[in-house]
Amino acid sequence: MSYLRKNIEQMEGYSPGFQPKEAGFIKLNTNESPYPPSARIVKAMRAACGESIRKYPPPFAEPFRARAAELFGTKPDCILCGFGSDDILTIAVRALCGEGDLMAFPSPTYSLYGVLAQIQNARAVALDFPEDYSLPPELAGTGARLTLLSNPNAPSGTMIAFEEVRQLADALDGVLLVDEAYVDFAEWNCLELAKTRPNVIVTRTLSKSHGLAGLRFGYAVAHEDLIAGMMKVKDSYNVSAPALAGAVAAISDQEWLRQNVGRITKTRKVLIEGLGRLGCYCWPSQANFVLARVPVGSDAEQVFNELFRRKILVRYFKAPRLDDCLRISVGTDVEIRALLDALREILG
Ligand SMILES: Cc1ncc(COP(=O)(O)O)c(C=O)c1O
Repeated sequence: MSYLRKNIEQMEGYSPGFQPKEAGFIKLNTNESPYPPSARIVKAMRAACGESIRKYPPPFAEPFRARAAELFGTKPDCILCGFGSDDILTIAVRALCGEGDLMAFPSPTYSLYGVLAQIQNARAVALDFPEDYSLPPELAGTGARLTLLSNPNAPSGTMIAFEEVRQLADALDGVLLVDEAYVDFAEWNCLELAKTRPNVIVTRTLSKSHGLAGLRFGYAVAHEDLIAGMMKVKDSYNVSAPALAGAVAAISDQEWLRQNVGRITKTRKVLIEGLGRLGCYCWPSQANFVLARVPVGSDAEQVFNELFRRKILVRYFKAPRLDDCLRISVGTDVEIRALLDALREILG
């Protein structure tokens, strides 16, 4: 089985043939937005599906680069777009890591990092996060060509402070990629580092906070020399015309984004409080999901199975450090109420 196929099965937590939504499940396992994108975004995507669809899209997604540059106070040349931020991560690793090169990241983290290292025959250096998911001090001294930091981290939801990330960036000889897939749910971000440091790449996605996981659109912000290097390995047309139209509309509607993030973070608080009342320990989350350790005496895998039986799908990792935990995406208020009711039955 290919590395990537195996990774998808791990990410989804079930076999590819199974369709949880069609099977009537509450799906809280892959950190999608529980709310659809705004009507304005859908309209923009539909408009891009007319007569002009016979033509190739702009190869560098220029309209998005122009709009994002305006929004972030940088140059269009400092932005790279792709088919989801997974595509951006793949491009970065292919551009920066050859056979035998070191690629470092704290662990546990997003499983794709290790997979991408394997594909490149790079040497992955996975450094254990301390119990509180603070930054492993040795991360600054690995000598890696590429260091990856998911911030907020998946699957813990925890976040490293800006100042610590700045110090890490300045201490590294190689490139630091800060994966900000969940940053819209957080209180700070590291965009400033991508704008001011020659060795920092910040990657983002529209899959989570914008409610556009099916659209497949992600981007990177970095020094133009780094972006130019990454451009060399990207596919010619790695953003479709409808995705480009939707993405431009999405980042142009910051008010909708603020409201969507607001309702999700409000429900996150309800989820954390509810889990706490049930005796679970939750790491402080700055993302749209929560990592919860089940109470002593309970078995996380059994709880996962019991939830599954009740048609609620969360994420269980049969892995060191995580096998006594569940990762739960923040759903709608109704979904989270159903989850907490089910957990009360199971744990009570
Ligand atoms: C930390 C992290 N980075 C990147 C991604 C990829 O997101 P996408 O390819 O949908 O943009 C995910 C998806 O779950 C993630 O958890």
